[in-house]
Amino acid sequence: MSDRQQRYVIVTGGSQGIGLAAVQKLAAQGSHIVIASRNQQVSAQAIAKVKATTPGAQIEALPLDLASFTSVREFAAVYKSKGYPLHVLINNAGGMIYGKQARFSPDGFELTLQTNHLGHFLLTDLFLDLLTASAPARVVNVSSQTHIPGFGGGPPPDLDLDNLKAEKYYNAAVFYKNVKLITMWFTYEMQRRVAGSGVTSNAMCPGFVPQSIGERRTNPLSRFMYLQVLARMPFARSLEQASTSLAYTATDPAMEGVGGKFIVDCKEKRSSDESYDEQKARKMWDMSRQWCGLH
Ligand SMILES: NC(=O)c1ccc[n+]([C@@H]2O[C@H](COP(=O)([O-])OP(=O)(O)OC[C@H]3O[C@@H](n4cnc5c(N)ncnc54)[C@H](OP(=O)(O)O)[C@@H]3O)[C@@H](O)[C@H]2O)c1
Repeated sequence: MSDRQQRYVIVTGGSQGIGLAAVQKLAAQGSHIVIASRNQQVSAQAIAKVKATTPGAQIEALPLDLASFTSVREFAAVYKSKGYPLHVLINNAGGMIYGKQARFSPDGFELTLQTNHLGHFLLTDLFLDLLTASAPARVVNVSSQTHIPGFGGGPPPDLDLDNLKAEKYYNAAVFYKNVKLITMWFTYEMQRRVAGSGVTSNAMCPGFVPQSIGERRTNPLSRFMYLQVLARMPFARSLEQASTSLAYTATDPAMEGVGGKFIVDCKEKRSSDESYDEQKARKMWDMSRQWCGLH
């Protein structure tokens, strides 16, 4: 991208939480932002917030539901019909799907898997031609350090390919850690495949951000715990810190041409040993292509 060319950025889940905080930063840098999420009323409120701090912000919203392959394809078609280039794709939307029972997308996949990974896998594939044509370009996948066994406590990831649809058991936290491990494989495998094309693929973890989790809590005690207690803990990250790191991975000149990294607090960090298993990454790539109907 030349200095004078405007940067075009898609942020999935850019309407709330860490995504919105990053959108604020990228809009202030002068990037053209497209917020991609489901609730267009919430997106409109997000746009108003951004324009309040950056009056000249180039920002719009388009509907996207990552839990529907049809919606992902429609989103990509609408974006492309606008004739925009694409310099940065931030695959941020998602999170843990709370509950004792697994839930499933209309496409038949467990919702954590489809929202966090499969929807983004298809989205990235559909945009790879445009990213390559717009190069230098970056794909940033928001993962989580909780994919590293022992990090943050609780049971480690336990990716059982025979249990992807929760036939054997379901644990929301374990399924979340599994999908964030899959995100690491996707990131590294993509980097191996796009190397030399001018497109890079990196993953980042925003850290534990009680502010964004607390905002979504309806239970007053739980809200208080996240917003007033956990947010003050030394291991917590503020929305400001988390979004600084996300914006760093997405646009900082220090990351230009750098791919295949895991970024935490604006620094490279080693991800789990398993995340570097190239055979598993290739297998997951092939399976994801098949599941997304890509041939
Ligand atoms: N918060 C943390 O402590 C933490 C820690 C590590 C990693 N992360 C990761 O950081 C990312 C952002 O987390 P957050 O806490 O900022 O989340 P958040 O506040 O819950 O925001 C989630 C965003 O994703 C959108 N979204 C949710 N489901 C979607 C779907 N099916 N299709 C399209 N958009 C969807 C939401 O908008 P709509 O509801 O309108 O669609 C919203 O804009 C996630 O990937 C999460 O796993 C978070």
